[in-house]
Amino acid sequence: MSETTTMQAGLPASNPGTGATKKVFVKTYGCQMNVYDSQRMADALAADGYAATEVMEEADLVLLNTCHIREKAAEKVYSELGRIRKLKAERASLGRDTVIGVAGCVAQAEGEEIVRRAPVVDIVIGPQTYHRLPDAVRKARDGGKVVETDYAIEDKFERLPAPRRAELRRRGVTAFLTVQEGCDKFCTFCVVPYTRGSEVSRPVAQIVREAEQLAAAGVREITLLGQNVNAWHGEGPDGRQWGLGELLFRLAEIAGIGRLRYTTSHPRDMDDALIAAHRDLDRLMPYLHLPVQAGSDRILKAMNRRHTADDYLRLIDRIRAARPDIALSGDFIVGFPGETDADFEATMQIVRDVTFVQAFSFKYSPRPGTPGADMDAQVDESVKDERLQRLQALLARQQREFADALVGRKTDVLIEKPGRSPGQWVGRSPWLMPVILDEKAGEIGDIVDVRINRAAANSLFAQAV
Ligand code: SAH
Ligand code: SF4
Ligand code: F3S
Repeated sequence: MSETTTMQAGLPASNPGTGATKKVFVKTYGCQMNVYDSQRMADALAADGYAATEVMEEADLVLLNTCHIREKAAEKVYSELGRIRKLKAERASLGRDTVIGVAGCVAQAEGEEIVRRAPVVDIVIGPQTYHRLPDAVRKARDGGKVVETDYAIEDKFERLPAPRRAELRRRGVTAFLTVQEGCDKFCTFCVVPYTRGSEVSRPVAQIVREAEQLAAAGVREITLLGQNVNAWHGEGPDGRQWGLGELLFRLAEIAGIGRLRYTTSHPRDMDDALIAAHRDLDRLMPYLHLPVQAGSDRILKAMNRRHTADDYLRLIDRIRAARPDIALSGDFIVGFPGETDADFEATMQIVRDVTFVQAFSFKYSPRPGTPGADMDAQVDESVKDERLQRLQALLARQQREFADALVGRKTDVLIEKPGRSPGQWVGRSPWLMPVILDEKAGEIGDIVDVRINRAAANSLFAQAV
């Protein structure tokens, strides 16, 4: 939704020197971390007089916040830049300048190559340098090209301005909060350690301050973000070394924060304190995204996941012992180099053994610069297609069975917004699935008890109790 009041069809009238704000349009690809970063970039630019717009044609600054995880994701950026080139020319013919920036993981991975391939681009800026974005924009407006892709040594979060309260209000009652960035795990299929750099944890005080700002602006549910969120660590106010578990206990003390979540975690970093948080904290939602990627030990080893299928199953047992009603979500890759039919069957088997209520599954996409791309025995596309279809059918069945089993049960729902039909309200279940209510069961931001009376493919229907 746009904050501007000048939404209009076509191009707005020129307004230089009138003191009116400039406009920025941000398009976000990829993971939640990019969503969070896009908001912080918008916050940083607001201090320079840029108002956010949802209409690309009226933007003086267009930013693409990109994803490099699979080939398709990365290539989307170039087709979008093709369209943007025309837009920039059209605006230029009306005497209006447009600055084009590429941020995110493609920016980090490809750097100057982006400007060579798409000369329309003025700014290439990697995820570690967003605090330098306002400077880069000023330089670009003066006609320069800016490529900023070093892993900055300064703390970008310390230098980015705090989110503005009005903006937070507009964003609603749920929010992301990045606590950790980067990855040292180097799974052999993955670009993230190269695009996001090595693991950095934000200090406890910074995180608590931001969570309190969110709470004060009416946010009720916070999702802590990190590429390896449960690798987060820091010195607690008690002088001891804290992990994510201890941090969650601290954040649960903040008045107003009714719900906590975190994503994405790695099986190797699920420690006792974090499992205890699932046992002891009602505010920590009984939902965990814990990617396993594959079920064959041979493939897990080739992926450098550094755990076996059995390690994962035993971990799930411990988590379920602590929190019996926890719902699990996962990521899967089919067709990793060398994956045989038997290896793939092991993936199907681990899915049957665990039962996931939600999952993301992908065909392996060889990424330049990662070890997997150079491995022998790349799997045929048609084999990947077939395996993906089978896996997705199984996962969809599990998702459906989970939803059906909820019918008749009571649960709590965070009221988020009015629904599509008059009188309807949309809330969020503990398992992220949206819940449609046929009457207003409370104010936006309230957490209310409901009974689920119907389950559809991607949502639940419920009545207040
Ligand atoms: N940090 C997260 C994953 C981030 S990437 C974690 O460790 O779980 C999100 C998902 O994209 C991964 O879990 C993986 O399933 C998928 N993915 C990553 N690289 C991929 C590739 N080269 N091809 C296909 N899927 C990939
Ligand atoms: Fe990628 Fe593996 Fe790091 Fe996740 S843990 S971001 S999959 S390298
Ligand atoms: Fe994509 Fe970068 Fe996120 S590659 S998934 S945007 S960390």
